[in-house]
Amino acid sequence: MSPRVVVISGASSGIGLATARRFAAGGDQVVNIDMNAPGPGDAVGEWVAADVRDWTALDAAVGQVERVHGAVDVAIASAGISKRRPFTEMTEQDAREVIDVNLMGVIGLWQAAARRMITAQRGVLLATASANGSAGYPCYADYNATKAGVLALCRTVAIELAPYVRTACVSPGYVMTPMQRAEYTPAMLADVNKQIPAGRHADPAEIAEAFHYLASPAARYITGQQLIADGGELAGGTASSHGTVFNPPRGFGGSHLRPAPRAMLRGPDPQIGAAEGSGPPGVRGCPPASRVSPRVGTTRLAPQAKQRACRAETG
Ligand SMILES: NC(=O)c1ccc[n+]([C@@H]2O[C@H](COP(=O)([O-])OP(=O)(O)OC[C@H]3O[C@@H](n4cnc5c(N)ncnc54)[C@H](O)[C@@H]3O)[C@@H](O)[C@H]2O)c1
Repeated sequence: MSPRVVVISGASSGIGLATARRFAAGGDQVVNIDMNAPGPGDAVGEWVAADVRDWTALDAAVGQVERVHGAVDVAIASAGISKRRPFTEMTEQDAREVIDVNLMGVIGLWQAAARRMITAQRGVLLATASANGSAGYPCYADYNATKAGVLALCRTVAIELAPYVRTACVSPGYVMTPMQRAEYTPAMLADVNKQIPAGRHADPAEIAEAFHYLASPAARYITGQQLIADGGELAGGTASSHGTVFNPPRGFGGSHLRPAPRAMLRGPDPQIGAAEGSGPPGVRGCPPASRVSPRVGTTRLAPQAKQRACRAETG
């Protein structure tokens, strides 16, 4: 396969960074569009500083890539944020920010790339959705809505741009990105891992493999679809079986009752995580890593599973 020009938003960290590394390792030219610079040793290809909420900046960045490299073959939208709190405590500002980054940021990048791909009559548009886009996980209502929105976007754009341009999403479950790791104690991590059918979090490199496949000619008949890479969570895992807002796990304040114990409010910003699950645990009754399957909500949980979840959160 000849080297491709691959634009990735959010490639300064986590899944985006791993994906950038995967494509670069295969000989592709990678351009990272991220509002934050990559850390020392994390630079892959070129970095263009831009906020994905700014469509003008995105169009300028993608236009510059096309001028310099002659094409935009693959565009991957991976920049994302999440804010963990109960639905009734969500502020308008918070919700708009999550929607702006996670949904508008994907639309903006895809549109900027699609306009060039249509002219070239080839291209692949990819995005990081989430298992949360297909289930109602507590404490991430706005986030989940954006991920469902990305899946709907993926289907619609696939139809509009076929047969030249394909679209697809990768929907991860638990991925051990740096910020996710920072929020676990060893006991919590072990407890969550035990309940994921795969027995562990995904390595970002495993999510990157899914992107690499979807961008490849081997996936040429796949468009408008998601590839779920969640270690079996959506199939019936119980890793996310933490309490709900109205039935919080032991040790956490209910959202309307009392704030979370002080010891639980750790992390640089008690309300804002850089991406899903990356905020501090236990904010106002919303447990850490609360990608909770509604199919295993607290009312349906076996008592033993419930206790395991509580131990994970208070460990
Ligand atoms: N980590 C997980 O368990 C998990 C699971 C499912 C889905 N996801 C999704 O994967 C994607 C990446 O998450 P991650 O865990 O790698 O997070 P991360 O925090 O490691 O990386 C997110 C990147 O996006 C960038 N970014 C954030 N806001 C931006 C903005 N407005 N403009 C430009 N860049 C911006 C950040 O600088 C960062 O480099 C997100 O869309 C997230 O929702 C993550």
